[in-house]
Amino acid sequence: MRVFIALPLPTDVISKLSLWLEPLRCRHPNLRWVRPDQIHLTLRFLGDVGQAEIDHAERILDSNRSGPVEFILSRSGTFSGRGREGLPSVYWVGGEWGPEAAELADSLSLIRDDRGRVGRVKSFHPHLTIARQGRYNEKVRIPDPGPWKGAIDRVVIYSSLLTRSGPEHSELCSFRLST
Ligand code: 2AM
Repeated sequence: MRVFIALPLPTDVISKLSLWLEPLRCRHPNLRWVRPDQIHLTLRFLGDVGQAEIDHAERILDSNRSGPVEFILSRSGTFSGRGREGLPSVYWVGGEWGPEAAELADSLSLIRDDRGRVGRVKSFHPHLTIARQGRYNEKVRIPDPGPWKGAIDRVVIYSSLLTRSGPEHSELCSFRLST
């Protein structure tokens, strides 16, 4: 099963993001937009792993005692892609994230992924992917969002099913982040 661990956004922030994204999605239909209810902060991507790795993630999250992750969404940005000169691969929004997000990502780095890797593979760049470039040939300018403040009070193990119309994420397990 294709698995990742992420922080879901509070519903009021999803609604704000959704309204904000509407005109952008209309103006640039050729980008591969992430459905607003599927936008999340990825902490660890495990890929196609078995039950042992999912159990390991559950043990880590079950014993985790960190509180809610506060955030401010105020910036947009891109990650550059390999291969197509000058074109980004990912469009994201972000801003400030409470230290608990990086701590959680760090604790999850102990789990073996589908390529056998443990430990922090690359540095953690907290971001919410809103769109991917796909095969589209034009670079799009995304304005800064918000600023919107919020707090995330749970962390989720998701399965991700790749379908023709894009990935479908489902919650496998949810763990509360409470003070
Ligand atoms: P990102 O969008 O935050 O960058 C579920 O597929 C999530 O896991 C994606 O939203 C993506 O996070 C991350 N992901 C998908 N494929 C990945 C890969 N090969 N390596 C690392 N992260 C990946």
